[in-house]
Amino acid sequence: MRIYSGIQPTGCITIGNYIGAVKNWLELQEENDCLFAVANQHALTVRQVPQELRERTLSFFAQFLACGLDPEKSILYVQSNVPEHSELAWILSCHTYIGELERMTQFKDKSRKNEDNINAGLLTYPVLMAADILLFGSDLVPVGKDQKQHLELARDLAIRFNNRYGDTFVVPEPYIPKQGAKITSLQNPTEKMSKSDKDQNATVSIIDPPDVIMRKFKRAVTDSDNRIVFAEEKPGISNLLTIYSAFTGVTVEEAEARFQGKGYGDFKLAVGEAVADALAPVQKKYNEYLSDKAELERIMKEGAEKAHRLAARTMRKVKKKIGFVQD
Ligand code: AMP
Ligand code: TRP
Repeated sequence: MRIYSGIQPTGCITIGNYIGAVKNWLELQEENDCLFAVANQHALTVRQVPQELRERTLSFFAQFLACGLDPEKSILYVQSNVPEHSELAWILSCHTYIGELERMTQFKDKSRKNEDNINAGLLTYPVLMAADILLFGSDLVPVGKDQKQHLELARDLAIRFNNRYGDTFVVPEPYIPKQGAKITSLQNPTEKMSKSDKDQNATVSIIDPPDVIMRKFKRAVTDSDNRIVFAEEKPGISNLLTIYSAFTGVTVEEAEARFQGKGYGDFKLAVGEAVADALAPVQKKYNEYLSDKAELERIMKEGAEKAHRLAARTMRKVKKKIGFVQD
């Protein structure tokens, strides 16, 4: 199957992204034909400092590799290096109704948060995401719950286009992991752990040093009772159990049994240690990749060339169908 996913280079790759996205990608790349992108064009919907965007894009790409995404198995690339994304996005935007975009929860959220910069890109962002997916004939798109609505639009656009012009696009399916689909903030455990959270203690980055990881887990918000069980009324503890399970491979039930009768303090330390231990080899590789920029750029270029070849094939088909003259 053809699989596509992407992540925006804003903030840092959190353990939420890791559990909700990257970890699934690692499994998927073993058996499928995958493309994974650093979606830097998407990042422009909020103001960026150019030098920071450039550095973060490289850093995210190095983190992809350090996590184990393998350029021999998957196509790994940076979105802006493949111009067909914008090209298809324009065509799709002419087939998208404004009402469909204004309904998007993320648009409404982000407009509220960035009142001084409600730019057109913020509205049309899901069209660019649809273009990302449809360019490559993707069958399956692994994402977290929050992206489900955007994926619905990608499906609607594929179906609409196919009905109007004849079979062109594969209609993609979302792939949403059951457990850990939503890792929540360590400070506000009913809210999603977000890459862009301003509270440093709310998120854990996959490249946070071990002492920082331990400190953040020690400060994690729990509740006033003292049972370590997974339950709706215990969002903080449930979130920590999910994180522990994801990083150690034991089930949530096994984790509950392991910590039965233990205090919250010990439990939080154990979760922090499990995360720091699991991330140690990732961080070692990350530093190696970052210290060899030439190699990093070579892998980036190779990925973009492969992605471009596939995307160009789709664009030839699309242009012909909609009546653009041959170039
Ligand atoms: P974003 O951080 O919004 O660019 O998301 C990148 C990918 O990670 C998407 O597939 C998201 O759905 C997923 N993701 C982001 N935050 C979380 C979270 N807290 N828990 C689970 N998955 C997440
Ligand atoms: N919009 C996605 C997010 O914020 C990232 C993304 C960009 C993406 N393009 C994609 C995800 C294509 C899946 C497929 O999480």
